[in-house]
Amino acid sequence: MRLRLENVSKAFTDPLSGKGLLALRNVDLAVEEGEFVCIVGPSGCGKSTLLNLAAGFERPTRGRVTLGGEEVTGPHPRIGMVFQEHGLFPWLSVLDNVAFGLRNAGMPRDRARQRAMEMLEKVDLARFERARPSALSGGMRQKVAIARTLVLEPEVLLLDEPFGALDEQGRKHMDLELLKLWEMGGRTFLFITHNIEEAIALGSRIVLMGTNPGHVHREWSVEVPRPRDLFQEDAVRLRKEISCSLQDVLSECGCKRTELLAPIVIKDTEA
Ligand SMILES: Nc1ncnc2c1ncn2[C@@H]1O[C@H](COP(=O)(O)OP(=O)(O)OP(=O)(O)O)[C@@H](O)[C@H]1O
Ligand SMILES: [Mg+2]
Repeated sequence: MRLRLENVSKAFTDPLSGKGLLALRNVDLAVEEGEFVCIVGPSGCGKSTLLNLAAGFERPTRGRVTLGGEEVTGPHPRIGMVFQEHGLFPWLSVLDNVAFGLRNAGMPRDRARQRAMEMLEKVDLARFERARPSALSGGMRQKVAIARTLVLEPEVLLLDEPFGALDEQGRKHMDLELLKLWEMGGRTFLFITHNIEEAIALGSRIVLMGTNPGHVHREWSVEVPRPRDLFQEDAVRLRKEISCSLQDVLSECGCKRTELLAPIVIKDTEA
Protein backbone atom coordinates (compact mmCIF):
# COMPACT_ATOMS: atom_id res chain seq x y z
CA MET A 1 0.00 0.00 0.00
CA ARG A 2 1.20 3.44 -0.85
CA LEU A 3 2.02 5.80 2.03
CA ARG A 4 1.56 9.43 1.12
CA LEU A 5 2.17 12.77 2.74
CA GLU A 6 0.12 15.24 0.76
CA ASN A 7 1.21 18.85 1.06
CA VAL A 8 1.82 18.39 4.77
CA SER A 9 2.74 21.26 7.08
CA LYS A 10 3.25 20.95 10.80
CA ALA A 11 3.40 23.78 13.29
CA PHE A 12 4.19 23.43 16.98
CA THR A 13 3.90 25.89 19.80
CA ASP A 14 7.31 26.62 21.21
CA PRO A 15 7.01 25.55 24.87
CA LEU A 16 9.28 28.38 26.10
CA SER A 17 8.10 31.40 24.11
CA GLY A 18 4.58 30.22 23.35
CA LYS A 19 5.16 31.31 19.75
CA GLY A 20 4.42 29.25 16.67
CA LEU A 21 7.20 27.14 15.24
CA LEU A 22 6.89 25.74 11.75
CA ALA A 23 8.62 22.36 11.65
CA LEU A 24 7.49 21.25 8.16
CA ARG A 25 6.09 23.14 5.18
CA ASN A 26 4.34 21.64 2.16
CA VAL A 27 5.94 18.22 2.28
CA ASP A 28 4.82 15.97 -0.56
CA LEU A 29 6.18 12.47 -0.35
CA ALA A 30 4.85 9.18 -1.68
CA VAL A 31 6.40 5.88 -0.63
CA GLU A 32 5.37 3.07 -2.94
CA GLU A 33 4.65 -0.45 -1.73
CA GLY A 34 7.88 -2.42 -1.28
CA GLU A 35 10.14 0.63 -1.50
CA PHE A 36 12.99 1.28 0.91
CA VAL A 37 13.12 5.05 1.23
CA CYS A 38 15.86 6.71 3.29
CA ILE A 39 15.54 10.26 4.57
CA VAL A 40 18.65 12.30 5.30
CA GLY A 41 18.93 15.90 6.40
CA PRO A 42 20.44 18.20 9.01
CA SER A 43 19.50 18.04 12.66
CA GLY A 44 16.25 19.79 13.42
CA CYS A 45 14.97 19.77 9.82
CA GLY A 46 11.89 17.80 10.83
CA LYS A 47 12.76 14.18 10.03
CA SER A 48 11.29 12.77 13.25
CA THR A 49 8.30 15.06 12.92
CA LEU A 50 7.70 13.68 9.43
CA LEU A 51 7.90 10.10 10.73
CA ASN A 52 5.57 10.83 13.65
CA LEU A 53 3.05 12.25 11.20
CA ALA A 54 3.41 9.19 8.95
CA ALA A 55 2.83 6.94 11.99
CA GLY A 56 -0.28 8.86 12.97
CA PHE A 57 1.28 9.88 16.32
CA GLU A 58 0.92 13.53 15.31
CA ARG A 59 -1.67 15.20 13.07
CA PRO A 60 -0.64 17.61 10.33
CA THR A 61 -1.54 21.27 10.75
CA ARG A 62 -2.26 21.34 7.04
CA GLY A 63 -2.43 18.60 4.39
CA ARG A 64 -2.97 14.91 5.07
CA VAL A 65 -1.29 11.53 5.44
CA THR A 66 -2.83 8.57 3.65
CA LEU A 67 -2.18 4.83 3.47
CA GLY A 68 -3.69 3.15 0.44
CA GLY A 69 -5.77 6.30 -0.10
CA GLU A 70 -7.29 6.23 3.40
CA GLU A 71 -6.43 9.03 5.76
CA VAL A 72 -4.21 8.10 8.71
CA THR A 73 -5.82 9.77 11.72
CA GLY A 74 -4.03 7.97 14.55
CA PRO A 75 -1.74 5.01 15.28
CA HIS A 76 -2.44 2.47 12.55
CA PRO A 77 -2.22 -1.35 12.75
CA ARG A 78 -0.55 -1.52 9.35
CA ILE A 79 2.16 0.96 10.29
CA GLY A 80 4.96 0.06 12.71
CA MET A 81 7.55 2.37 14.21
CA VAL A 82 11.04 1.67 15.55
CA PHE A 83 12.44 4.55 17.61
CA GLN A 84 16.02 5.61 18.12
CA GLU A 85 15.74 4.56 21.75
CA HIS A 86 14.73 0.90 21.89
CA GLY A 87 12.14 1.54 24.63
CA LEU A 88 12.07 -2.08 25.82
CA PHE A 89 10.55 -2.85 29.21
CA PRO A 90 13.53 -3.63 31.45
CA TRP A 91 11.50 -5.84 33.80
CA LEU A 92 10.21 -8.13 31.03
CA SER A 93 12.17 -10.91 29.33
CA VAL A 94 13.12 -10.54 25.67
CA LEU A 95 10.31 -12.93 24.77
CA ASP A 96 7.68 -11.04 26.75
CA ASN A 97 8.84 -7.73 25.31
CA VAL A 98 8.23 -9.07 21.81
CA ALA A 99 4.91 -10.66 22.84
CA PHE A 100 3.72 -7.48 24.57
CA GLY A 101 1.98 -5.84 21.61
CA LEU A 102 0.19 -9.05 20.68
CA ARG A 103 -1.02 -9.53 24.26
CA ASN A 104 -2.13 -5.92 24.28
CA ALA A 105 -4.13 -6.59 21.12
CA GLY A 106 -5.92 -9.40 22.98
CA MET A 107 -4.02 -12.46 21.76
CA PRO A 108 -3.95 -15.34 24.31
CA ARG A 109 -0.64 -15.63 26.19
CA ASP A 110 0.57 -18.95 24.75
CA ARG A 111 -0.19 -17.97 21.17
CA ALA A 112 1.44 -14.56 21.62
CA ARG A 113 4.58 -16.12 23.08
CA GLN A 114 4.72 -18.66 20.27
CA ARG A 115 4.51 -15.91 17.65
CA ALA A 116 7.11 -13.88 19.53
CA MET A 117 9.42 -16.89 19.61
CA GLU A 118 9.07 -17.38 15.84
CA MET A 119 9.99 -13.73 15.33
CA LEU A 120 13.00 -14.02 17.64
CA GLU A 121 14.17 -16.99 15.57
CA LYS A 122 13.96 -14.87 12.43
CA VAL A 123 16.19 -12.20 13.95
CA ASP A 124 18.50 -14.85 15.39
CA LEU A 125 17.85 -14.01 19.03
CA ALA A 126 15.80 -17.02 20.11
CA ARG A 127 18.49 -18.16 22.52
CA PHE A 128 18.06 -14.94 24.50
CA GLU A 129 14.32 -15.42 25.04
CA ARG A 130 14.63 -15.47 28.84
CA ALA A 131 17.22 -12.71 29.15
CA ARG A 132 16.33 -9.24 30.38
CA PRO A 133 17.17 -6.40 27.94
CA SER A 134 19.98 -5.22 30.27
CA ALA A 135 21.88 -8.44 29.49
CA LEU A 136 22.00 -7.65 25.75
CA SER A 137 24.30 -5.43 23.71
CA GLY A 138 22.94 -2.20 22.21
CA GLY A 139 22.62 -3.79 18.77
CA MET A 140 20.80 -6.82 20.15
CA ARG A 141 18.37 -4.61 22.07
CA GLN A 142 17.63 -2.69 18.91
CA LYS A 143 17.03 -5.99 17.14
CA VAL A 144 14.52 -6.97 19.86
CA ALA A 145 12.83 -3.59 19.35
CA ILE A 146 12.58 -4.32 15.61
CA ALA A 147 11.23 -7.84 16.34
CA ARG A 148 8.65 -6.31 18.70
CA THR A 149 7.41 -4.10 15.87
CA LEU A 150 7.64 -6.76 13.13
CA VAL A 151 5.66 -9.34 15.11
CA LEU A 152 2.63 -7.09 14.71
CA GLU A 153 3.07 -7.59 10.94
CA PRO A 154 3.01 -3.98 9.82
CA GLU A 155 3.09 -3.41 6.08
CA VAL A 156 4.90 -0.13 6.52
CA LEU A 157 7.91 0.06 8.80
CA LEU A 158 9.08 3.49 9.97
CA LEU A 159 12.56 3.60 11.49
CA ASP A 160 13.94 6.72 13.18
CA GLU A 161 17.75 6.42 13.24
CA PRO A 162 17.43 2.98 14.81
CA PHE A 163 21.17 2.29 14.81
CA GLY A 164 22.36 5.81 15.58
CA ALA A 165 23.79 4.77 18.93
CA LEU A 166 25.88 1.88 17.57
CA ASP A 167 29.51 1.99 16.49
CA GLU A 168 30.24 1.77 12.77
CA GLN A 169 30.76 -1.96 12.69
CA GLY A 170 27.62 -2.61 14.73
CA ARG A 171 25.61 -0.34 12.48
CA LYS A 172 26.83 -2.04 9.31
CA HIS A 173 25.95 -5.42 10.77
CA MET A 174 22.45 -4.23 11.69
CA ASP A 175 22.02 -2.66 8.25
CA LEU A 176 22.64 -6.05 6.68
CA GLU A 177 20.15 -7.69 9.05
CA LEU A 178 17.56 -5.06 8.19
CA LEU A 179 18.15 -5.58 4.47
CA LYS A 180 17.48 -9.30 4.92
CA LEU A 181 14.10 -8.45 6.44
CA TRP A 182 13.28 -6.10 3.60
CA GLU A 183 14.42 -8.63 0.99
CA MET A 184 11.94 -11.15 2.42
CA GLY A 185 9.44 -8.90 0.66
CA GLY A 186 6.00 -7.53 1.36
CA ARG A 187 7.15 -4.57 3.46
CA THR A 188 7.67 -0.90 2.81
CA PHE A 189 10.46 0.84 4.73
CA LEU A 190 10.87 4.52 5.54
CA PHE A 191 14.20 4.94 7.28
CA ILE A 192 15.81 8.03 8.79
CA THR A 193 19.55 8.36 9.10
CA HIS A 194 22.20 11.04 9.47
CA ASN A 195 24.58 8.84 7.57
CA ILE A 196 24.73 9.22 3.77
CA GLU A 197 26.74 6.02 3.39
CA GLU A 198 24.07 4.09 5.31
CA ALA A 199 21.34 5.60 3.13
CA ILE A 200 23.18 4.48 -0.03
CA ALA A 201 23.77 1.00 1.40
CA LEU A 202 20.06 0.55 2.14
CA GLY A 203 17.75 2.77 0.14
CA SER A 204 16.04 2.24 -3.16
CA ARG A 205 15.43 5.97 -2.96
CA ILE A 206 17.02 8.75 -0.91
CA VAL A 207 15.23 11.93 0.08
CA LEU A 208 17.24 14.90 1.31
CA MET A 209 15.33 17.30 3.52
CA GLY A 210 16.07 20.99 3.77
CA THR A 211 15.44 23.08 6.83
CA ASN A 212 13.82 26.28 8.12
CA PRO A 213 11.12 25.08 7.74
CA GLY A 214 11.56 21.39 6.92
CA HIS A 215 10.87 20.47 3.30
CA VAL A 216 11.89 17.96 0.65
CA HIS A 217 15.00 19.41 -0.98
CA ARG A 218 15.96 16.70 -3.46
CA GLU A 219 15.52 13.02 -4.23
CA TRP A 220 17.67 10.33 -5.84
CA SER A 221 16.78 6.82 -6.85
CA VAL A 222 19.65 4.47 -6.03
CA GLU A 223 20.51 2.34 -9.04
CA VAL A 224 23.59 0.68 -7.50
CA PRO A 225 23.07 -3.12 -7.79
CA ARG A 226 22.66 -5.20 -4.61
CA PRO A 227 24.61 -6.44 -2.72
CA ARG A 228 26.03 -2.94 -2.77
CA ASP A 229 29.68 -2.07 -2.94
CA LEU A 230 29.98 1.48 -1.67
CA PHE A 231 33.29 1.92 -3.52
CA GLN A 232 31.60 1.13 -6.80
CA GLU A 233 31.69 4.09 -9.22
CA ASP A 234 27.95 4.91 -9.10
CA ALA A 235 27.88 4.68 -5.31
CA VAL A 236 30.86 7.03 -4.96
CA ARG A 237 29.33 9.51 -7.41
CA LEU A 238 26.00 9.44 -5.58
CA ARG A 239 27.72 9.97 -2.26
CA LYS A 240 29.51 13.04 -3.59
CA GLU A 241 26.30 14.39 -5.07
CA ILE A 242 24.30 13.95 -1.85
CA SER A 243 27.13 15.44 0.25
CA CYS A 244 27.26 18.50 -2.04
CA SER A 245 23.49 18.94 -1.85
CA LEU A 246 23.63 18.63 1.93
CA GLN A 247 26.25 21.37 1.95
CA ASP A 248 23.90 23.48 -0.19
CA VAL A 249 21.11 22.91 2.32
CA LEU A 250 23.40 23.95 5.16
CA SER A 251 24.66 27.07 3.43
CA GLU A 252 21.16 28.00 2.20
CA CYS A 253 20.19 28.77 5.76
CA GLY A 254 23.42 30.70 6.16
CA CYS A 255 24.52 28.95 9.30
CA LYS A 256 26.91 26.30 10.46
CA ARG A 257 25.67 22.82 11.18
CA THR A 258 25.62 23.18 14.94
CA GLU A 259 23.53 26.34 14.76
CA LEU A 260 20.79 24.36 13.06
CA LEU A 261 20.10 22.62 16.33
CA ALA A 262 18.21 25.71 17.42
CA PRO A 263 14.56 25.68 16.35
CA ILE A 264 13.31 28.44 14.10
CA VAL A 265 10.72 30.63 15.69
CA ILE A 266 8.17 32.46 13.60
CA LYS A 267 5.86 35.27 14.66
CA ASP A 268 2.56 33.61 14.06
CA THR A 269 1.81 29.96 13.68
CA GLU A 270 2.14 29.56 9.95
CA ALA A 271 1.14 26.47 8.03
N1 LIG B 1 6.46 18.38 20.25
C1 LIG B 1 7.14 19.46 19.84
N2 LIG B 1 6.89 20.69 20.34
C2 LIG B 1 7.56 21.77 19.91
N3 LIG B 1 8.51 21.74 18.98
C3 LIG B 1 8.82 20.55 18.43
C4 LIG B 1 8.16 19.33 18.82
N4 LIG B 1 8.68 18.30 18.09
C5 LIG B 1 9.61 18.84 17.29
N5 LIG B 1 9.70 20.17 17.48
C6 LIG B 1 10.58 21.09 16.75
O1 LIG B 1 10.45 20.82 15.36
C7 LIG B 1 11.70 20.92 14.71
C8 LIG B 1 12.01 19.59 14.02
O2 LIG B 1 12.28 18.61 15.01
P1 LIG B 1 12.57 17.10 14.65
O3 LIG B 1 12.74 16.37 15.93
O4 LIG B 1 11.53 16.60 13.71
O5 LIG B 1 13.96 17.23 13.87
P2 LIG B 1 14.93 16.08 13.32
O6 LIG B 1 15.22 16.38 11.90
O7 LIG B 1 14.37 14.75 13.65
O8 LIG B 1 16.27 16.36 14.17
P3 LIG B 1 17.40 15.29 14.64
O9 LIG B 1 18.16 14.93 13.39
O10 LIG B 1 18.23 16.08 15.59
O11 LIG B 1 16.73 14.11 15.27
C9 LIG B 1 12.72 21.28 15.78
O12 LIG B 1 12.92 22.68 15.72
C10 LIG B 1 12.04 20.87 17.08
O13 LIG B 1 12.46 21.68 18.15
MG1 LIG C 1 14.99 13.18 14.90
